[in-house]
Amino acid sequence: MNYLFGLIGYPAKHSKSPWIHQHFLDQQSLHGAYQIWETSPEGLKDTLSSMKKLAVDGFNVTVPYKEKVMDYLDEIDPYAEKVGAVNTVLLRDGKWIGYNTDGRGFVRSLQETYPHTRLSEKKALLIGAGGAARGIYAALLEENMQRVDIANRTKERAEALLPLNTSSASSSALSFQEAEDNLAKYDIVIQTTSVGMTPNDTAKPFALNHVKDGAIVADIIYKPFETVLLQEAREKGANILHGHGMLVYQAALAFELWTGTHVEASQLLKEFEQQLK
Ligand code: ATR
Repeated sequence: MNYLFGLIGYPAKHSKSPWIHQHFLDQQSLHGAYQIWETSPEGLKDTLSSMKKLAVDGFNVTVPYKEKVMDYLDEIDPYAEKVGAVNTVLLRDGKWIGYNTDGRGFVRSLQETYPHTRLSEKKALLIGAGGAARGIYAALLEENMQRVDIANRTKERAEALLPLNTSSASSSALSFQEAEDNLAKYDIVIQTTSVGMTPNDTAKPFALNHVKDGAIVADIIYKPFETVLLQEAREKGANILHGHGMLVYQAALAFELWTGTHVEASQLLKEFEQQLK
């Protein structure tokens, strides 16, 4: 078997995914290649049809196509349907099946980095209510957490995510001010907005003065390597979780879907960290 995997997105050229997936192929002693199909919106339909003719075994989907790609798939896994976005497509019996490994990738990164954290006993605060937050919210709810609250600049957008919760977890929408004032309540704080992403960006959604002792503070941004929010969390003695863990583990979960293997990603994560620092 010689696998052909890839990525569609726009832009996508500078993606780290080929490097990550080549590592997994080597680790599993599998043969294959991972190719980038950078595709403008006008070219999306033709690119996908060429990829189907090529019988691409599996591909990832990145910005801006995670929702749009769903129109071209044969089946969508119920979890991806719930999240409303697809980041991984698998070719099975000539059919394209869409999955979402982003949020679960975040949860696996959290569990592998802090293995003694029992999520079912914890309360989490999600900062942001966009596409990334939606995926992580769905994945946290699968872990039967006690509480998952969502704070967003626009509180109504946080409220709009609440119907996703069919678990026993309590969940409310908060303004940034409410979240900042009540921060001591949360064991895990996860920053998913784009605040802090541009170079030398000193912005953060809000201050962490009330962060709980021993809390885990995560940011899904991985460029810069450590956002101002994470720096502040570190100074306050919190446990921190960098964003590249989610990137590596969403890839690991995609690779596992494509190949039916179980990959070991912790060493790769360390190497990746060295590259980004
Ligand atoms: P993504 O798919 O990366 O999550 P998105 O769906 O555009 O992107 O969502 C962006 C998130 O970042 C939202 O929570 C957004 O807040 P609003 O819903 O209020 O727009 C948040 N965000 C973006 N810029 C922000 C800023 N300057 N301050 C606070 N929040 C911001």
